[in-house]
Amino acid sequence: MQYTQLGKTDLNVSRICFGCWQLSPRFWGEIDLREWTAALRASEEVGVNFIDTADAYGDGFAETSLGDFFAAEGCRDRFVLATKFYWSFETGKRYPDTSYDYILRECEASLKRLKTDVIDLYQIHAWDPLTRPDEVAAALNRLKKEGKVRWFGVSNLNVEQMRAYQRHFDVACLQPLYNMLDRKVEAEELPFCQSERIGVITYSTLCRGLLSGKYSKDQTFNDARGNNPRFQGERFARILDRLEQTKPIAEKYGLTTPQLAVRWALTNPAVTSAIVGVKKPEHITTIAPAADGVLSIADWHALAEMVHDG
Ligand SMILES: NC(=O)c1ccc[n+]([C@@H]2O[C@H](COP(=O)([O-])OP(=O)(O)OC[C@H]3O[C@@H](n4cnc5c(N)ncnc54)[C@H](OP(=O)(O)O)[C@@H]3O)[C@@H](O)[C@H]2O)c1
Repeated sequence: MQYTQLGKTDLNVSRICFGCWQLSPRFWGEIDLREWTAALRASEEVGVNFIDTADAYGDGFAETSLGDFFAAEGCRDRFVLATKFYWSFETGKRYPDTSYDYILRECEASLKRLKTDVIDLYQIHAWDPLTRPDEVAAALNRLKKEGKVRWFGVSNLNVEQMRAYQRHFDVACLQPLYNMLDRKVEAEELPFCQSERIGVITYSTLCRGLLSGKYSKDQTFNDARGNNPRFQGERFARILDRLEQTKPIAEKYGLTTPQLAVRWALTNPAVTSAIVGVKKPEHITTIAPAADGVLSIADWHALAEMVHDG
């Protein structure tokens, strides 16, 4: 496993990050918690030291399960822990909240669920148009001063929105959607992060599993992917056909199709780590070799041309 510095921070992270959204039954259905815990254990064996979660994944369920794992194994200090806030689920109804009081309250709740004293990377899940950046900063700076949070990150933000926060606090990391089918951030956000030395951790690097190429054309999905047009009919079949064409390139590098998709994202020099959504040990153990190198410039472009959603 390769490790790298996350932006300007002092965090040394594995180039693969363990994603915890899969512990959201509303989206992913019920998953086996014993398998998931075994996957966390397996992640250490393959050198993954970086975990991404959010308070809202399963309305606290993902953080609580992670906290139980840390407590049972006594291993919190062996991981770089990233979580997020933004979606208030306190009242049962979901809405964005990044107000001063909410951030302080929610951070305490996350620390309690995660059974830890400190969050390494505390990320704003998305842009909140209702709270002024200086108000967000006042809460974040207080958390930093109290030693509850080490660094701050953002997710799903454009350059202007990052700049608006940068005027008030240090933005250490961006978490954008990025994979072979979703390349919008290449135009502005990734170059901006590179020039500002902001770390980048990509989400949906496997496009929710689609880029693993493992599904048959008649596969149906019992989870929320079933409602996603990319996972249906001709569009789904077209993407699978295009993935099939990538096999000679994968073979050249000794990679599987999912490893190739992750290596493709990691080949972009703006990208620090690729987050992969994990349900079971094989997900994390078989993806780890993706981080052992990069693709040639020619192959990176050839893949981008082959695999698209047009
Ligand atoms: N900031 C945000 O707004 C945001 C949004 C989305 C996700 N995220 C973060 O990013 C993480 C990953 O993104 P994602 O959840 O969209 O999913 P993803 O990583 O693109 O895909 C996850 C799915 O890929 C399949 N998979 C995983 N490892 C595999 C392997 N080694 N071989 C073959 N298939 C494999 C599994 O599908 P099956 O279930 O079909 O086996 C898994 O459920 C999340 O867990 C979360 O931490 C953040």
